[in-house]
Amino acid sequence: MFTLEGRKALVTGGASGIGSTTAGILRDLGADVALADVDTDGLAVRSAELGNCPTFACDVSDEQQAETTVQAAAEALGGLDIAVNSAGLVDEVKYALERDMAPWQRIIDVNLRGTLQICRAAGRIMVPAGKGAIVNIASVNGPGGWPRRTAYGPSKAAIVALTKELACEWGPHGVRVNAVGPGYVATPMIQGLIEDDKIDTERLNNRTPLGRLATTEEIGQAIAFLASDWASYITGETLFVDGGWMAYGGAGDVKTF
Ligand SMILES: NC(=O)c1ccc[n+]([C@@H]2O[C@H](COP(=O)([O-])OP(=O)(O)OC[C@H]3O[C@@H](n4cnc5c(N)ncnc54)[C@H](O)[C@@H]3O)[C@@H](O)[C@H]2O)c1
Repeated sequence: MFTLEGRKALVTGGASGIGSTTAGILRDLGADVALADVDTDGLAVRSAELGNCPTFACDVSDEQQAETTVQAAAEALGGLDIAVNSAGLVDEVKYALERDMAPWQRIIDVNLRGTLQICRAAGRIMVPAGKGAIVNIASVNGPGGWPRRTAYGPSKAAIVALTKELACEWGPHGVRVNAVGPGYVATPMIQGLIEDDKIDTERLNNRTPLGRLATTEEIGQAIAFLASDWASYITGETLFVDGGWMAYGGAGDVKTF
């Protein structure tokens, strides 16, 4: 089994869902972990569960907050080897012709600009140090097109591209940049869409070769792998952890096709 013993890791979106679980997995593998999020109550709860790790209130879409948070996390941890960008917003689920541009811009600012800003701040530490691993979070809704996702989908497709660009810029400096592309994962983000009748779990299960949503652990394990030395020759990749969603090209449900 690989280890992250002694590694210093910052996880954004660490108060909930994929980020929260990933922080626990990184910690269990030996890393010292810091969390950043806009949800300060959630940060306090998760920090206590993890044994009082450092936490930082941060809106990743704000450049100054992103810079100071990464700097402060590196100071608190005594360095920065791993950055996981799990902060993100779901789409409004409105048709392109009916949506307002202000909420559209907010999703782009958090998901895409926020990811770049945390990557840049981490890169300012990792590039001079000649080492480091960054893991961004894309989605199957990026390469794939979904109606009513004209902010979320483009933000995630751009994260796939951004991951490649930064991997090429920072590879010569020993810094790897990868992404995980989850399918649907059972998190508060998805729970909200289910409760609002904006997604139908049964239809998603039927469209997924493995027949179910992912757990946050299954996404966190892939993130930990990409952050570890077991992925030492992997950079610029988006690893889809989607139960076969992207592989399926048939018509209708998997079982009936
Ligand atoms: N759940 C899924 O099915 C799924 C699928 C594919 C990709 N993703 C992506 O995974 C990531 C995590 O999503 P999740 O499902 O764990 O959702 P979540 O809502 O459980 O967690 C997201 C966290 O990000 C935080 N956040 C939101 N805006 C922020 C901001 N401006 N600055 C800092 N923190 C902010 C929230 O407070 C929350 O704690 C997101 O990027 C999401 O797009 C999720």
